[in-house]
Amino acid sequence: MSKDRKILLSGIQPSGRPHIGNYFGAMKQFVELQKEHETFIFIADYHALTTLQNPKELKQNILNVAIDYLAIGLDPKNVTLYKQSDIPEHMELAWIFECLTTVPYLERAHAFKDAQAKRSEVNVGTFNYPLLMAADILLYDADVVPVGQDQKQHVEIARDTAEKFNRVYGETFKLPQPMILSDVSVVPGIDGEKMSKSKGNTIPLFAEDAEIEKCVMSIVTDSSGGIPKNVHEIHTLFALDGHRPTSLSDGARLDDFYAQNEGKYKILKEALIEDIKTFIRPLREKRKSIAEDKEAVLKMLKEGGLRARAKASAKMEEVREKVGVKLY
Ligand code: AMP
Ligand code: TRP
Repeated sequence: MSKDRKILLSGIQPSGRPHIGNYFGAMKQFVELQKEHETFIFIADYHALTTLQNPKELKQNILNVAIDYLAIGLDPKNVTLYKQSDIPEHMELAWIFECLTTVPYLERAHAFKDAQAKRSEVNVGTFNYPLLMAADILLYDADVVPVGQDQKQHVEIARDTAEKFNRVYGETFKLPQPMILSDVSVVPGIDGEKMSKSKGNTIPLFAEDAEIEKCVMSIVTDSSGGIPKNVHEIHTLFALDGHRPTSLSDGARLDDFYAQNEGKYKILKEALIEDIKTFIRPLREKRKSIAEDKEAVLKMLKEGGLRARAKASAKMEEVREKVGVKLY
């Protein structure tokens, strides 16, 4: 492993089925960048506890995310894949960050403000969430953190926290950079709002054909008779990076196809259904075959945890020394 490779780190919460917003906004980048970086990808199971308190469901979701990661093409030979809860140093470092951070600073976090707007009694975990995320990132000396737009502020908080720690205790943590692809930074859901597990507006990444049809047919369109914005925006994702929609004839461009079919919502939606099916089918098949060997998936996760822990515990030793709790 060459020493000069940059360190890439990211994670997703096991809080439900991943959707195409997760994929295009974040997960796809993990796969594309795994070889040229030293890559750490994890399952943020302790973060998920802030919203999910059903142990059976959480367990199943964790296994599902591990399978999802493998199905999209993460290769354990290139990537250290693990679950957060296997590395207790994340919690330990989060506590140290909590002691350095002020309440008014964390009150400015968008995710916390959104949670507070929805429920008056937000749990402490939701409030502290960005500091656990800072620990996730800083323990591994990450250089880049590929995420969707909604996580940008959290990565900035990690950066601020690293600066603050370095100022108080001396140079210890590297400052991470968020990596956000502008053309997919916010993928819209079938209602035109941001696609989100909690809003019931998703197209699941491993959806069955019938589910894809149902989702696309429910994409909200206005009645102006022009180009249906939400359909078009979602369709564009499937034409990224030279990936060629099957609905297009040779040489045709997606935008021309939409211009030629202005107002013909049925034709446009049917074309989108075909393109999503073509895209998802091989991923779904691969996922099914990986899911057949649950033991192999668990073994991979456990081994990834051991590798991650070796790195995290070395860093944590340094932190304990810096803050003054290490006596032997
Ligand atoms: P989560 O499901 O909240 O754990 O999100 C996993 C990753 O997907 C994070 O990097 C998010 O920023 C990203 N993400 C979630 N929803 C969207 C969306 N609608 N568009 C783009 N990226 C998203
Ligand atoms: N908060 C992220 C999300 O909801 C998940 C996450 C937790 C994460 N820790 C992280 C992402 C560290 C990147 C790096 O999507």
